Amino acid sequence: MTMAEWIDGQGRRIDYLRLSLTDRCDFRCVYCMAEDVRFLPRQQVLTLEEIERVARLFVEGGVRKLRLTGGEPLVRPGIVGLCERLAALPGLRELCMTSNGSQLARYARDLHAAGLSRLNISLDTLDPKRFQAITRTGRLEQVLAGIAAAQAAGFERIKLNCVVMKGRNTDEVQGLVDFAIANALDISFIEEMPLGVVGGERRERFCSSDEVRALIAERHELLDSAEHSGGPARYVRLAGHPATRIGFISPHSHNFCATCNRLRLTAEGRLLLCLGQEHSLDLRGLLRRHPLHDEPLRAAVLGALQRKPAGHEFGVDDGVQVLRFMNLSGG
Ligand code: 5AD
Ligand code: SF4
Repeated sequence: MTMAEWIDGQGRRIDYLRLSLTDRCDFRCVYCMAEDVRFLPRQQVLTLEEIERVARLFVEGGVRKLRLTGGEPLVRPGIVGLCERLAALPGLRELCMTSNGSQLARYARDLHAAGLSRLNISLDTLDPKRFQAITRTGRLEQVLAGIAAAQAAGFERIKLNCVVMKGRNTDEVQGLVDFAIANALDISFIEEMPLGVVGGERRERFCSSDEVRALIAERHELLDSAEHSGGPARYVRLAGHPATRIGFISPHSHNFCATCNRLRLTAEGRLLLCLGQEHSLDLRGLLRRHPLHDEPLRAAVLGALQRKPAGHEFGVDDGVQVLRFMNLSGG
């Protein structure tokens, strides 16, 4: 097998892989986990060696960008060493991480030194009480310290991720934009996705990206931007504030599947072809059945790519379709 780029059944080149390192997290965000969530038994979660092997295989297949997610990737022991080894994979351009920020005060310097190139940090509110209500177990102060530590460590273009929910934080959109501007951070506003059964009031709290955009436009002139990540985000810039990009991640209101260049690996080693559907490939089984030979894994991935869906199927009124929690699939 050559090192040719992997192309899916719709002609899309797969150059981005998201790796969920764990389903565990020190937070219990209302849109992500049930309060009494049970985590996977350890033997069902990929080992660090297995994760590394999958990453190497995909980078050989043309993946140029890896994103480490969770749960919370920083609760996985051995995370810094893993980052070092992944960052060194020949051909990889970017090693990114999505984190809740809670452990960054401790880890930011080591992660930067290990070769992690970019960080996305979740931040839904700047109000300590609300922060506690949304994350159930988190402390705002801890995350703000984490953001500061990441900047001090030298991370550039840090991006905040904010899930916007009516009745919870729509009145903070402008304040969060101000915070991003003041700290020269990017910020993306995310429509809540109907993954897992988390609560009954989802539909009422749904806030569309168009509504968020209108809130920001009350205060700022928005400059449309052609910047694109190949994913579901659209970006704008703000007149007079060149250091901050504003993103809108709109799984509901804008269909982005035609250009979807990404795959996800769950903590259990299932390769998800599309976040909105259940199509998946059990890579863990293959990894454990073929400890020495990559060829069967490659063949299975190439076969699965031919089945990557042309588009996903969730809409605002659908209710719950995919009974999988976000902490399993890694955002
Ligand atoms: N809808 C939208 N975004 C979500 N995230 C977690 N669960 C959901 C959901 N149901 C986001 C968090 C975090 C990232 C890991 O995924 O905001 O930024
Ligand atoms: Fe943890 Fe992120 Fe899920 Fe919140 S959204 S519970 S921080 S994995």
